[in-house]
Amino acid sequence: MRDPNSGIFLTIEGIEGVGKSTAVQFIQEYLTQKNKKFIITREPGGTEIAEKIREILLTPNSEEKITPDTELLLMFASRSQHIHHVILPALKAGKWVVSDRFVDASYAYQGGGRQLDMKFLQQLDEQIVHSLKPNATILLDASPEIGLARAKHRGPQDRIEQEKVDFFERVRTGYLARASKEPKRFHVIDATKPVESVQNEIKTILDGLNDA
Ligand code: TMP
Repeated sequence: MRDPNSGIFLTIEGIEGVGKSTAVQFIQEYLTQKNKKFIITREPGGTEIAEKIREILLTPNSEEKITPDTELLLMFASRSQHIHHVILPALKAGKWVVSDRFVDASYAYQGGGRQLDMKFLQQLDEQIVHSLKPNATILLDASPEIGLARAKHRGPQDRIEQEKVDFFERVRTGYLARASKEPKRFHVIDATKPVESVQNEIKTILDGLNDA
């Protein structure tokens, strides 16, 4: 039985162009219809300072390159602000917290994509995220060829979107590796299926969380 004073933490993950925004919108409509108290948030970002960090992270910069270590540390700096000022207070207030990305993205992008030291990443995870874990994580999965083709239609690419296909192959592999380690928390959805089918799968996950 779940603690009635504690909310539900749900995260949405996946490479660019897999339909995260559409999924988040669907979840928002579901929770509104069920009269649930909820917040929708995102990483990097979610607070005033974390959004400033997001801007540094995503603005394409030609002169001074952001090093992979800086990228990793800024992701966790933004996450610390987000956890303490947004996620934990909302969960304590019994709300659902729906976050467009969370720490799994650091394992996939900085661990998989950038191939940074996993031990360092785990240490940051332990120090900054502690024991906070999503109740469920929806991983929208598609090949980078499909995802990037869709993402290109959205306009100018940000600094990370400008990476090459093999970077996103490693990100995808990183996500799938995490999903296979925690099959109870992760729900992997084939994002190439029609939108109705993806939404039906999401609805089943939400119904399950709601009834738990
Ligand atoms: P998006 O949320 O609009 O997709 O953009 C966020 C970008 O930041 C996306 O390319 C994934 C990347 N990212 C990381 O590299 N590591 C992280 O820990 C997080 C949260 C996001």
